[in-house]
Amino acid sequence: MRHLLSVSDLDRDDVERILEAAAALRGLEGKLPTLRGKLVLSLFFESSTRTSSSFELAAKRLSADVISLKAAGSSVDKGESLKDTVLTLAQYEPHAIVVRHPRIGAPQLVARYSGAAVVNAGDGKHQHPTQALLDLFTMRDALGRLDGLHVAIVGDVLHSRVARSLIQALALVGAHVTLVGPPTLIPRGIEAMGCSTATEIEAIADADVVYVLRMQRERMEAAFVPSLREYASRWGITPERVRPGQKVMHPGPVNRSLEIDGRVADGPDSLILAQVRAGLAVRMAVLHELLAAGAPARETAAVA
Ligand code: NCD
Repeated sequence: MRHLLSVSDLDRDDVERILEAAAALRGLEGKLPTLRGKLVLSLFFESSTRTSSSFELAAKRLSADVISLKAAGSSVDKGESLKDTVLTLAQYEPHAIVVRHPRIGAPQLVARYSGAAVVNAGDGKHQHPTQALLDLFTMRDALGRLDGLHVAIVGDVLHSRVARSLIQALALVGAHVTLVGPPTLIPRGIEAMGCSTATEIEAIADADVVYVLRMQRERMEAAFVPSLREYASRWGITPERVRPGQKVMHPGPVNRSLEIDGRVADGPDSLILAQVRAGLAVRMAVLHELLAAGAPARETAAVA
């Protein structure tokens, strides 16, 4: 694997290998020497808390040098194009570039203008492959399996790169997906990705995992729901709508009281913070896979 631009870059063996490496890397204390002398650039042209911090920490835990750039405060502010930004930073000969950008396909452009391995950390509403991997890791950790799991993905599928990547990744590992939400937020024809769809919230009843999506208000040019209050009352995940033992996930950031009730987000079946922890281990595994292929993560871990 040269780049990780989309879940389509992965087959089932790749997923297994990365999840296994993440399991070996998780919980290690201190740093590993694996990426000493390597340079990782982190370019975030869109807001991020979890993804940017975990990639940066992952690279540092593997002893890479890290340069983190955000659009605000960089020359992007002055109108520099993505191409010129990449051509400029490519002069430092980075080994990997992690990029988030509001435009679909921006990571491909970064791959074209640099010699680095590129990781897509979210491009518009298109793909967010490392989120899907950390979600698989979290589900397997909590439920012991992926094959045959039923996952209900609830809410704003239309604007969600997380949903698109996760639907593909769950199909790869043999899980079943039902998309649930208002018809305006479920893209027409999405069943072709191998999932079923439903408009009534009752469809989550027999799911092992209820995966709640954020209402992406910043990507909605028009009104997709009559009102946010109505959305919350018909599709919001409240304690009454989930049963004990039914796991609840959310990629963050959470809009409490809109797509998810705070009592569910903070409840005993919430995996939301476990997802954040998984993010660090999985992103270490992805950087390891791209930059240190050949050195098994477990041996890398044993060296430390
Ligand atoms: C998501 C994103 O940015 O795609 N967040 C994340 O990476 N954890 C989801 C979102 O913004 O709703």
